Amino acid sequence: MTGKISLALIGVGNVATTLVKGFEFYKNSTQGLWHPKIAGLTLNDFTISAVYDIDASKVGKKIGDIVKNHKSDFGNLTIQPGIAEDTAPSHIAQNGQVKSASYDEFVNALKNVKPDFVVNLISSGMEKSSEKYAKAALDAGCSFFNATAAHTVTDQTRKAFESKGIMILGDDLMSQFGGTAFHRGMIDFMASRGIFLRKAYQLDVGGNQDTQNTMAEETRERKRQIKTQSIAIESPIPFQSTAGTTEYAEQLGDSRVSYYWMEAGGFLNSPVELDLSLRTNDSTNGCNVIVDSIRAAKKSLSSKDFAKVDIISAYAFKNPTKKMHIRECIKAFEDSFLN
Ligand SMILES: NC(=O)c1ccc[n+]([C@@H]2O[C@H](COP(=O)([O-])OP(=O)(O)OC[C@H]3O[C@@H](n4cnc5c(N)ncnc54)[C@H](O)[C@@H]3O)[C@@H](O)[C@H]2O)c1
Repeated sequence: MTGKISLALIGVGNVATTLVKGFEFYKNSTQGLWHPKIAGLTLNDFTISAVYDIDASKVGKKIGDIVKNHKSDFGNLTIQPGIAEDTAPSHIAQNGQVKSASYDEFVNALKNVKPDFVVNLISSGMEKSSEKYAKAALDAGCSFFNATAAHTVTDQTRKAFESKGIMILGDDLMSQFGGTAFHRGMIDFMASRGIFLRKAYQLDVGGNQDTQNTMAEETRERKRQIKTQSIAIESPIPFQSTAGTTEYAEQLGDSRVSYYWMEAGGFLNSPVELDLSLRTNDSTNGCNVIVDSIRAAKKSLSSKDFAKVDIISAYAFKNPTKKMHIRECIKAFEDSFLN
């Protein structure tokens, strides 16, 4: 493999700005990295080639104006207009106007930059825009990484990307140690000790922009279904379950609290009850998974090993086309890419 992995980031919000800070910090450190090297690649092997948004208060500004007080190699990149196919989230309407480009203008802009990966980090609830970004990446000949809950990965889109020698990865990023991953890990551990779950819930409360956007009824329901199905796979027997975002509380800032309650049974059906909470930082929680899976995808692309998409997607997303147990997908990912 030669050259850097170039990214076009779509949506310059919490996650994108955290990635920018991470690429600077990890020039000289590995502290806090899940996997410092994947496929022989470090975080120094990334570059950001372009950034896009539709918020008029961001478009035209430099990354350095948004990620203030942080040195970055990418500080001089200007935020370009993306495409807007949905009603803008309320925060954009409050900030002013939407500034967008036509589909053709956007595809031409991508073709000029030719990033390896278009990384979709736009607001929750922008389903049509996410689907359009996937199509634009395909038309421009770039791989597509979908962190949002929009449904972009189907057998059809996979085949279309693979026929051009590129990949589509998604949907809905699973944070490194967020509400869903932790919930799945607890069920897996219980089942491995012969304790079987009967009922559970996971109630997520967060304070950032994305949580606020998730409160829209349709988006909340979609995310609830994805989380509940993602968690269900860990239990060998069906159980009654609800998992989803229940509240936006501004005072939590960029953190998220997941409240868990579980009722299980042991020998003679003796009761086991668990009640706990987990508080994490939302935007940092996604970044290790993003940089790991894109490095793995870069390696798979260079060896034209498209079958690895299933492993990468099960590791990185809550709603991959092929679901795997959390323990199995981490093992399969590390067996494939840790060298
Ligand atoms: N741990 C995590 O942070 C995590 C985990 C899972 C999924 N995700 C998903 O990743 C995405 C990004 O999260 P975030 O916290 O950075 O969100 P955010 O709300 O902070 O940022 C979203 C950005 O996208 C921009 N945007 C909205 N519509 C756009 C469009 N059509 N084109 C270009 N830009 C557009 C907004 O103006 C904003 O700058 C969300 O969809 C979120 O659900 C994040």
